[in-house]
Amino acid sequence: MRVFRVICPGSFDPVTNGHLDIIRRAALLHDEVIVVLGANIAKEGLFSVAERVDMLEQVTKDLPNVSVDTFRGLLVDFCRAHGVSAIVKGLRAVSDFEYEMEMAQMNYRLAEVETLFIAANPLYSFLRSSLVKEIARYGGDVTSLVPPAVQNRLLAKLASRPQITP
Ligand code: PNS
Repeated sequence: MRVFRVICPGSFDPVTNGHLDIIRRAALLHDEVIVVLGANIAKEGLFSVAERVDMLEQVTKDLPNVSVDTFRGLLVDFCRAHGVSAIVKGLRAVSDFEYEMEMAQMNYRLAEVETLFIAANPLYSFLRSSLVKEIARYGGDVTSLVPPAVQNRLLAKLASRPQITP
């Protein structure tokens, strides 16, 4: 029997409630979901690859068909090596469309790997990791934007770095 294994790729610096919503919904629709962190694009960022993986594992631990992995190089090579049926991405707004469409078409052209889009929950249509970091950096409340474990890690990380005066 064919296993319908999909991936949710990203940089997850850090994972947000928006990511988690897409991961959960992908897990309801497919046999297996691998959340894959692009380790080669994670060089500049707030969290290290190991920290991001750790947070992803923590917030997906209640989802039995979800695992976490990293990849280097092309995403389609990871797909080929792991028998992945499709890439699942969330679409938040029209602004996401062009970039996502470009990647989806290129990934299909490179290796005939399909991309499936899940329409983001409107609650999270404005949500991205960089915005969360900016809000937290200037003392804003990110409680509704990231899981509690991530919020704690974020505040601890920012507290350990040189302060920016608003
Ligand atoms: O969270 P992001 O920044 O939207 O994630 C982007 C990611 C990691 C999915 C994308 O940059 C990617 O797939 N990078 C791997 C390199 C690759 O395969 N590039 C060709 C894409 S057509």
